[in-house]
Amino acid sequence: MRLVVLVSGRGSNLAALWKAIDEGRCSAEVVAVVADRDAPALEQASSRGVATAIVPLRRGDDREAWNVALKECVEAHRPDLVVLAGFMRVLGGAFVQRYRSRIVNVHPALLPSFPGAHGPADAIAAGVRLSGCTVHLVDEGVDTGPILAQAAVRVLPGDDAASLHARIQRAEHALLPAVVHAVATGALELDGPTWRTHGDDDGVILFGPDLPSG
Ligand code: GAR
Repeated sequence: MRLVVLVSGRGSNLAALWKAIDEGRCSAEVVAVVADRDAPALEQASSRGVATAIVPLRRGDDREAWNVALKECVEAHRPDLVVLAGFMRVLGGAFVQRYRSRIVNVHPALLPSFPGAHGPADAIAAGVRLSGCTVHLVDEGVDTGPILAQAAVRVLPGDDAASLHARIQRAEHALLPAVVHAVATGALELDGPTWRTHGDDDGVILFGPDLPSG
């Protein structure tokens, strides 16, 4: 299964995907990494000889024109699945229509709670005792698409947004490759506006507080 991974930042989720692929836990191939800015994650792709591209969105730019440019950039790599791994832009219009039900995003909160760009900080501010991450299909909204899988982590006394986010990321690094693998093997079928699972685990992969190190 051909993946195009969209990134904006450090790329620890991209690294976790590659680790899982290298270890045979994820039957997929990253064929390109595309960013909206000069993201550190792009260096991982360059060092592996994988194609990279930057499609920037600048203040005042036309958003729909950017969605079209991003779509055309991604299309050139013929992905089966588009993976948003720390991509900090809201997709819409032409892009979502072109790849509907074939875009997954990893979000650092248990959606539908705490969507947006500050999931861990918002969870700390709300005082929740349990947080985690969500892998979901992307629609035109902000973190509103159908939920595919979630993993929970505890919020510990003394946590701040950074320490909680670090714990959530351990969960992300296990969950995202597992979901991609489930899609690649057909255990999880992304199908129109919703999804179906095959097999006996309901396709919903849940991890408790004792997460594998990923
Ligand atoms: C991840 O924790 C991801 O869930 C989050 O950005 C981080 C990127 O980390 N995404 C969002 O907040 C999207 N709303 P990474 O670059 O190290 O993978």
